[in-house]
Amino acid sequence: MTDHRKLTPGKLIIASHNQGKVREIRALLEPYGVEPVSAGDLGLPEPEETGTTFAENALLKARASAEGADCVALADDSGLCVAALGGKPGVYTADWAERQWFEGDKGRDWYMAMGKVEGLLAEQGPDVDRSAYFICTLALAWPDGHSEIFEGRVHGNLVWPPRGTMGFGYDPVFQPVGMEPTFAELDPAQKQAMSHRADAFGKLVAGCF
Ligand code: IMP
Repeated sequence: MTDHRKLTPGKLIIASHNQGKVREIRALLEPYGVEPVSAGDLGLPEPEETGTTFAENALLKARASAEGADCVALADDSGLCVAALGGKPGVYTADWAERQWFEGDKGRDWYMAMGKVEGLLAEQGPDVDRSAYFICTLALAWPDGHSEIFEGRVHGNLVWPPRGTMGFGYDPVFQPVGMEPTFAELDPAQKQAMSHRADAFGKLVAGCF
């Protein structure tokens, strides 16, 4: 197994301004003696996600916080990759949901984003490959420039119409391999136990603690 730099007990910046993500990451890491603090709470700026890969974007966010706070920082970048669409929406998963509601009022419309994916699949006919995966890339960055990357995936198939009201994003159309319910029909604890994020965190914990 590759040797990874270990995380020592103490402060760890969660390089995210998304409170939901910060809460989830805090719960996952607290048993290991680290003290997670969010980049938002420290007033650290959020860099633009200009990378073309999940790893580049996760590293960009982790590095900005590690340098800004002179402390080790963790960031994640995630998305949905659809086989028949050559891996799209990929790093642009959140962008596909961007919508201008009114002048000056932008927001995310997940139903529209799921419909866009479905429309592109439908163009390829009824026998189109409906397989897809969610990916989560975690980047740890130290102030001395060292970094570690961990990647988790969960494979499934896209269904239409969307089903279920739990979860978020593309969960209502994602049916994990070997299961009948979509991610949005699963109990949150059940989803979290098998998700791409859990897979990536499992690798981080095995490598860095
Ligand atoms: P980011 O990692 O904040 O850039 O967001 C990537 C996007 O991928 C999110 O806004 C979600 O729409 C989507 N995504 C990531 N993980 C999941 C998931 O577990 N379920 C549904 N959608 C997800």
